[in-house]
Amino acid sequence: MKHLLKISDLTETEFTNLMSLTQKLKTENKKGVDHKLLNGKTLGMIFAKSSTRTRVSFEVGMHQLGGYSLFLSSADIQLGRGETIYDTANVLSRYLDAIMIRTFKQSDVEELASCGTIPVINGLTDEHHPCQALADLFTIYEQKGCLTGVKLAYVGDGNNVAHSLAEACAIAGVNFSVATPKGYECDAEIIDRAEQRARKNGSRIMVTTDPQEAVANADVVYTDTWVSMGQEDEKKERVGVFMPYQVNKKLFSQAKPDAVFLHCLPAYRGLEMTEDIIDAPFSVVFDQAENRLHAQKAVMVRLMSAQ
Ligand code: CP
Ligand code: NVA
Repeated sequence: MKHLLKISDLTETEFTNLMSLTQKLKTENKKGVDHKLLNGKTLGMIFAKSSTRTRVSFEVGMHQLGGYSLFLSSADIQLGRGETIYDTANVLSRYLDAIMIRTFKQSDVEELASCGTIPVINGLTDEHHPCQALADLFTIYEQKGCLTGVKLAYVGDGNNVAHSLAEACAIAGVNFSVATPKGYECDAEIIDRAEQRARKNGSRIMVTTDPQEAVANADVVYTDTWVSMGQEDEKKERVGVFMPYQVNKKLFSQAKPDAVFLHCLPAYRGLEMTEDIIDAPFSVVFDQAENRLHAQKAVMVRLMSAQ
C-alpha cells in the first residue's frame, strides 16, 4: 500500500488489515495506551474545500501518533495561484512524510501521487471519499459483529460517498443496494467494477430508483447530503428531485427491526433525513464520525511507518 487514492486500489488483505489495525488503535486509545508510531513524522493537509471531521480527525490522529500536521489551505498556497501539481508534489516531497488532500478532481489527487515521492491520502474528491468508507465499514463491523452478508442500503445522491461505499462493500462481502433518482446515479464504471468484485467476494450490488426496494430488509440505512460541496447552485432543483428519497420513519420501517442509521455528516435535518431518524437511538452517526479518527490513524501508520 503506497497511497490511499480510492478504495478499489486496496487488496482484500490490505482492507482487512486496515480494519484490524483500526480496532487495535481504537482499543489502545480508549485504554489510554500511548502509541507514538509516527514520532518525528509530518503530514501536510491540503484543503480546497471546507471540512470539520477530516481536518480535525487527521490533525488529532497525527498528534496522538507522535507526529505533526500542517494545515495548507489551497487558497493560501501557490497551488491556488497556478503553481503546477508537479512542482507542488516535488517540493512538498522534500519537506513532508505524507500529504492528505481534499479537492475537486480525482485526477489531481492521482497526479499529486504520481509526481511526488511520498504517500498521498485522498481526503475527498468529487468522485471518492475513501477515508469515510473505511470508517463506515468499521462502524458497521462494530454494530453488527461482522461484515460478510450484511445489507447496506444507500439512499440519495450517487456521489463520492456512495462510490467509496460501493467499492468498500464489494471488498468486504457486504451487500450494497443503492437507490438514486434518475439522472443522479452512481458512475456506471465504478458500479460495474464493484459488481464484479462483489461477486468474487460473495456479495451483491443492487441498483434501483426505488428507495423502498433498496431499504427492504437492510441492516444499515445510509444517506448523505443532496447538495455536495461545489453543487451549491443546484440546491433548489436538487431538493425537489430528492424529496422522495428522504430517509424518514416510513422508509426506515422497511429495514430490519435492528437496523442502524449512518450518515457521513454534515447532515441537513428535514432534507436527506428527518430529525427523528438522525436523533434516534438507532442512529450511530457520532460513533461513525469518531471512527474517522481511528481508521485514518490506521491508514497513516500503514503508509508512513515501517509497520
Ligand atoms: N464526513 C466528512 O468528511 O466531513 P467533513 O467534510 O467535515 O470533513
Ligand atoms: N458528498 C459530500 C460529502 C461531505 C463529507 C460532499 O462532497 O460535499
